[in-house]
Amino acid sequence: MIVIGIESSAHTFGVGVVKNGKILANEKKMYDVGASGMIPAEVAEFHVENSGEVLETALGKSGMNLEDVDGIGYTKGPGLGPCLQVGQMTAKTLATRLGVELVPVNHSVAHVEITKHVTGLIDPVALYVSGGNSQILKIDNKPYRHYRILGETFDIGVGNMLDSFARAAGLKPAWGSTVAKLAEGGRYTAMPYTVKGMDFAFTGLLTRATELAAERKMEDVCYSLQETSFAMLCEATERALLLTNSVELCTCGGVAQSKRLKEMLGSVCDEHKIKFGFASDDLNADNGAMIAVTAEKMLEQGYRAGPKECGIEQRYRVDRAVVF
Ligand code: FE2
Repeated sequence: MIVIGIESSAHTFGVGVVKNGKILANEKKMYDVGASGMIPAEVAEFHVENSGEVLETALGKSGMNLEDVDGIGYTKGPGLGPCLQVGQMTAKTLATRLGVELVPVNHSVAHVEITKHVTGLIDPVALYVSGGNSQILKIDNKPYRHYRILGETFDIGVGNMLDSFARAAGLKPAWGSTVAKLAEGGRYTAMPYTVKGMDFAFTGLLTRATELAAERKMEDVCYSLQETSFAMLCEATERALLLTNSVELCTCGGVAQSKRLKEMLGSVCDEHKIKFGFASDDLNADNGAMIAVTAEKMLEQGYRAGPKECGIEQRYRVDRAVVF
């Protein structure tokens, strides 16, 4: 089976091509968030302008022709409405033209599924950490097979928190990766730490770090901000692992590219003899291949979307998506 996956939920327009589980191409173009953050209409315009080129490049690299394709997957949500719309329209146009299946995919499910696909983990607890989301997930078969949310952020995603701090502190480029670089030379200073059971919150931490940025060495603030937020994620994840008697953990999503986070989660897993896995950075960032892999799996399991299912949904919660 050959499936194309289209991702457009936020700043990335990505197209992946997969054949029987093998990723043949994974192309993307990313909107430059710069100092202003993401203005949905502008990002959507960027996606419109670049969709044709990304699709063509992906197909070229895969060595496939459109006529070979069996299905088109796209991100149904969660994400920014105007951006999701571009991916959905591109996918729907293609599927209609080719007379093949259109497969709406939950973006969060796709992050976990691609990670399981490349690591071989079977039933892991998943720490899904990105700009907009921070959740601890595990498959539950009742009342239908889905990812149950064991814990999540009460306010903003950890990635948003790090990016927002970078912007407020005037770091360039204003990304969490800049915070990570500066953190390498920093020393710890106390910051607000908010974990309630398996849930956590980041805005108090963001406010305090922004205040401290005016008074302390930037390296120290970045180090403390990163250590505190990642320690919160590790504490909640460790609790989830032990309460569910799990023997596998994976982390996925944009923030799972962080070396320090993976190091800290690795220590938790070592302590409890838990198998730990993660995908490569290009598969943790938003990409089309994760949509293609998930859509192919859904089609293989006999999933066929009804016309009412093929829209977009900005707040498409991960626990409402049926997992195949
Ligand atoms: Fe994502």
